[in-house]
Amino acid sequence: MGFNVAIDGPAGAGKSTIAKAVAKELNLIYVDTGAMYRAVALYMLREGVNLTDREAVAGKCPEAKVTIRYQDGIQVVFLNGENVNAYLRTEEVGEAASVISPIPQVRKNMVALQKSLAAESDCIMDGRDIGTCVLPDAQLKIYLTASSDVRARRRYDELAAKGEPCDFQKIKADIEDRDYRDMHREESPLRQAEDAVTVDTSDMTVQEVQAAIIELCRRAR
Ligand code: DC
Repeated sequence: MGFNVAIDGPAGAGKSTIAKAVAKELNLIYVDTGAMYRAVALYMLREGVNLTDREAVAGKCPEAKVTIRYQDGIQVVFLNGENVNAYLRTEEVGEAASVISPIPQVRKNMVALQKSLAAESDCIMDGRDIGTCVLPDAQLKIYLTASSDVRARRRYDELAAKGEPCDFQKIKADIEDRDYRDMHREESPLRQAEDAVTVDTSDMTVQEVQAAIIELCRRAR
């Protein structure tokens, strides 16, 4: 096994921003597992599947073939051969991913894909169950978190900067709903691995978090 770093934590904790930067600095591949669940969710939305009908979603799973390629260090997600990166980062797709990701048939292929990517390359992988299920033997596990207030504020600022209309209370309520769903599902819930280091970023800048995690990686390597 190569060098693997697992980063788990709730939505909006900054996992992808940090993992991307650390990957670049330490020459690791960044594996964004949320994007894989988002790709399956996109397929279900496009097919008009009722997302709360678990059997319908499970039955459609074999039709959604997700593959990953790296182009100039960027993860590109293909859904049945189509590059879908541009469609994955919307609120609608994120919500849908949170709704369907508890279904075992959805997780099974994604976890296998994630394990094979980690076996092939030194990587930093972020998600919800990476330290607990996907890479139990990762040399470093990080649980990245922040208060829901801070996470909602960051999301609000991000949307406001793009000129998108948004409501702070609604964003915060959505984040808390998503946390609840991700933490209370039966299948691979979000929880901190026993051997994970907690990094609470509520009062830290991106640069501070990045520096702290690079230091943890250097020590683990
Ligand atoms: O990290 P994200 O917002 O892109 O993830 C979208 C949803 O996918 C999230 O609400 C839960 C699910 N997910 C998961 O169940 N397991 C993972 N390893 C990553 C994401």
